[in-house]
Parts: sequence; C-alpha cells; structure tokens
Amino acid sequence: MPPRLAIFGATSGIAAEVARVHAEGGAALVLVGRDRPALDALASDLMVRGARAAHVVTGDLADIAGLNTIAGQAWEALEALDIALIAHGSLPEQTVVRDDPVALAEAITLNFVSAAALCATLAPRFEARRGGMLAVITSVAGDRGRQSNYVYGAAKGGLQRFLQGLRHRLYPAGVRVLDIRPGFVSTRMTAHLPSSGPLWATPRRVAKDIARALKGTGGVIYTPWFWRPIMLVVRLAPAAIFHRSRL
Ligand SMILES: NC(=O)c1ccc[n+]([C@@H]2O[C@H](COP(=O)([O-])OP(=O)(O)OC[C@H]3O[C@@H](n4cnc5c(N)ncnc54)[C@H](OP(=O)(O)O)[C@@H]3O)[C@@H](O)[C@H]2O)c1
Repeated sequence: MPPRLAIFGATSGIAAEVARVHAEGGAALVLVGRDRPALDALASDLMVRGARAAHVVTGDLADIAGLNTIAGQAWEALEALDIALIAHGSLPEQTVVRDDPVALAEAITLNFVSAAALCATLAPRFEARRGGMLAVITSVAGDRGRQSNYVYGAAKGGLQRFLQGLRHRLYPAGVRVLDIRPGFVSTRMTAHLPSSGPLWATPRRVAKDIARALKGTGGVIYTPWFWRPIMLVVRLAPAAIFHRSRL
C-alpha cells in the first residue's frame, strides 16, 4: 500500500519533487506550509499525477506555539501518517546572522527549533501506533562548522544530534528516524549562488534518493551519495589545515 505522507514545507524545491515522486506511486499526501495558493496548485498537480489524496494544511512553521495544532491537523487529515517529512528551512546570509543576535535567533528557530518541536509533537503519535517514520532534511553544512555558514550549520548540526537521540529513543517502538543530508541543490534557496559544476544536483535527483531512503532502513543518508566521502574528509581535516582554507 503506498504510504500516507505529510510534508512540512511542501512548497520547497526538494520537497515538491519528493511529493511528485510519491504521487506517481499513488501515495496519499498532506501538504503543509504557509503559501495557500502554491500549496493548492501543488495539490492539484499531485492529483493529476496519481496521488490517492492531497490535502493542504496552512500555518507559519516559525510560530512554535502553533506547531502542535498544525501537526494534529496534518495527522487527522489522513487519520494517521506513515511518514512525516520535515523539509522547511532557510539559508540565511552569514554576514548578517553572525553579527545580529535577533537575525541569528530567527535562523536557529526556523532551521532547528521548528523542526525539533515538530518532531516532539509528532513522535508520541508514531510511538502510540508503534510504527511509521520521521524524516528530516538537515544538511551537509551540519557536519562541520565553517566560517562561511556556521549559523545555518549550527542549526542543522544541532538537528542532526537531536535526531540521533530521537532515533535511539524511538527504536523500541519501531519508529524510524531518518536524517537526510543534501549537498548543493538547485532550488529557490540557492538561486543567488553560481550553481553549475559536478557538486550541484537537481531537486529531482535528490528527491529520488530521498524516496529510496524512505523505503530503506538506514538512519542517515547523504544525497547525492558522493557527499558522504567528501564530508568524511571535511570532518577529519586537521584544524591546522582547515583553518587556512576559506570554505
Ligand atoms: N538547496 C540546497 O542546496 C540545500 C542543501 C542542503 C539542505 N537543504 C535543506 O533542504 C530543505 C529544503 O530546501 P530547498 O532548497 O528545497 O528550499 P526552498 O525551495 O527555498 O524552500 C524552503 C521552504 O521552506 C518554507 N518555509 C520557510 N519559512 C517558513 C515558515 N516560517 N513557515 C512555513 N514554511 C516556511 C518555504 O515556504 P514558502 O514557499 O512559503 O516560502 C519553502 O517551502 C531545507 O531544510 C534546506 O535547509 C537545502
């Protein structure tokens, strides 16, 4: 049976492609986000592609107090969920967030607190039905702090560690926790960057990797695959060498 899948941040370039891949397989979907017209348009597109259902739930995912209600609406729309994919985020301008405490707090709230808080409200629901999966898009940026993006990297790295602990907690209940770490993907988030070259991937390629991983058993995936060995080298590089780079 194709899964019942809720996607938080469904209008994201990567998430919309994951939704399309699942619609083509007959999945039932709940699309969660703040842009109602874009979500409605995506829902219509998914139904044409073969989705069993495509519901829309709207809300601001940076409003932490409202997340319990939003998660409950997403869960109830399909009576229960098999997979919750948490995909929303933003790539802040590092030179702004490193010096401005309010902008820094907003970036950490959206990229870490919001995703972790959604997990907190969804985890007991999955635990009670003794199955299902929480899948969260983090980033290779979380693997090591770098001068060019350590605020975003700290949020994603914190989220990676949170998911590690949540995976440990939910293991006895048979609930899977998947940490998805993309590299450079051509979406709205990266539209301002020069995006050609072998390290850049399309949302479609990354979405296919994610769809495959959702069916698998692993806890952490890098997408595309070559980021796993790259980040191993980045993590292991001695500080004496790493600090001379301007990565
Ligand atoms: N692109 C990359 O190179 C890359 C690499 C590694 C990891 N990632 C991660 O992958 C995930 C998806 O990224 P993407 O590149 O697909 O991003 P994107 O196309 O820029 O989409 C970002 C998404 O976040 C949503 N969002 C932002 N703030 C929100 C809020 N307050 N409430 C509700 N929704 C909000 C946006 O909604 P609106 O449509 O309403 O703006 C949009 O759906 C993110 O977690 C990102 O950090 C991306």
